[in-house]
Amino acid sequence: MTILKIESSARLEQSNSRRVTDYLVQQLGQPVITRDLVKNPLPAMSPEDLVGVHGSHKDSRPSLQQHLAVSEQLIDELRQADTLVLGVAMYNFGVPAYLKQWIDYVCRAGVSFRYTENGPEGLTGVKRAYIVTASGGTPIGSDMDFASRYLEHICRFLGIEEVFHIDAGGSKRTPELVYEHAKAQIDALLERSDEATVLEV
Ligand SMILES: Cc1cc2nc3c(=O)[nH]c(=O)nc-3n(C[C@H](O)[C@H](O)[C@H](O)COP(=O)(O)O)c2cc1C
Repeated sequence: MTILKIESSARLEQSNSRRVTDYLVQQLGQPVITRDLVKNPLPAMSPEDLVGVHGSHKDSRPSLQQHLAVSEQLIDELRQADTLVLGVAMYNFGVPAYLKQWIDYVCRAGVSFRYTENGPEGLTGVKRAYIVTASGGTPIGSDMDFASRYLEHICRFLGIEEVFHIDAGGSKRTPELVYEHAKAQIDALLERSDEATVLEV
């Protein structure tokens, strides 16, 4: 049981999303693979390579091969995980560009998802995702929030059936209030999943 933790806030210090994801993985108590998209940005792709990676083209062009190798590594991190934790800073109502880049690397036809007669089917094997979204004034889950709803869609597209949201929004409040509010949501969520396990037994 391994967690893949993705960080995407441009703030390495005083980031609400980073603080909350740290608390979450500590509470989950599983081994963690951390992929920090800000400390270690992914290489940018040319238009041709973006199309090539998406379609898993067999072309031997060296730049495409390099990007495919990065993509394989990122998808492998997903395959090793049963839990995905996404740390997200809302930027201009959407997700950080760093995170969008990761999505473009991992959503691969025939590798992380496939097309079937009943629509796309995710192939990553990840069971659950926790999406921690930090914002300023935009309420998480509102019509203006194109970050958390989009990420839920991507998670489901990759085959993740259980998706939980943690609201770390409202950075106009004190960081302590945002953190306490997010912590309470995590504690309630994890308590609930413990109860579910007990009931199943
Ligand atoms: C480039 C940029 C764009 C932002 N856009 C929004 C936005 O559209 N809505 C919002 O509520 N907050 C916005 N914010 C504020 C951040 O979402 C907020 O500071 C949040 O706490 C960032 O996450 P972090 O604390 O993990 O760094 C923006 C901040 C930056 C730097």
